[in-house]
Amino acid sequence: MRLIANALGAPPADVTETIKSSGRLLAGLCGEVSQAKKHVEAGVDLIIAQGTEGGGHTGEIGSLVLWPEVVEAVAPIPVLAAGGVGSGAQIAAALMLGAQGVWTGSLWLTTIESDLTEQQRGLLLEAHSRDTTRSTSLTGKPCRMLRNEWTKAWEMPNAPKHCHYRFRTSSQQRPRAVHAHIRIERAPSRSTLSAKL
Ligand SMILES: Cc1cc2nc3c(=O)[nH]c(=O)nc-3n(C[C@H](O)[C@H](O)[C@H](O)COP(=O)(O)O)c2cc1C
Repeated sequence: MRLIANALGAPPADVTETIKSSGRLLAGLCGEVSQAKKHVEAGVDLIIAQGTEGGGHTGEIGSLVLWPEVVEAVAPIPVLAAGGVGSGAQIAAALMLGAQGVWTGSLWLTTIESDLTEQQRGLLLEAHSRDTTRSTSLTGKPCRMLRNEWTKAWEMPNAPKHCHYRFRTSSQQRPRAVHAHIRIERAPSRSTLSAKL
């Protein structure tokens, strides 16, 4: 592993030191300029500027606005553009806005190597730009995912309040039963897909 990326905050000094002294590159994900600056102060080698379009935990600022703002704020530290990138034209746009490259996430969920079930992969491939939402249902922090009955339920006025992030990680974020189910589903579907290659 040549690079370690940090998200949801800048890494503490001892972690930065351990990673850098091992010869690895250190990256920091940000959703706004203030976060990028904290990563730079912590000593990262590169910044990943992720617009609100990005899958997973994400901020509120759109990629087209965020990328050049971060590029200017952290220069000469290189910036990778993330958030909604899925085509060559979008990569070209990112480069034109000053990024050194792009960083993609959701795209890889649709590959046969991903942990998704075939059904989940199909839902992602069929989804359009209006089909995602920033939901707090997973961890209590806004996270972009496909809108479904689960995310709608968490948006209802009588939905339970979120407990602290630390507790959600163990109690609600990834229940063991869900993981077990995913593994069971994945085993046959992966071998079927691989056989077609
Ligand atoms: C399912 C999922 C999980 C993710 N988990 C993490 C994570 O644990 N740590 C992290 O730094 N970024 C995570 N990301 C964000 C990606 O690193 C990346 O910045 C983002 O997906 C880019 O936007 P895109 O999804 O539009 O390509 C995740 C993204 C997705 C879709």
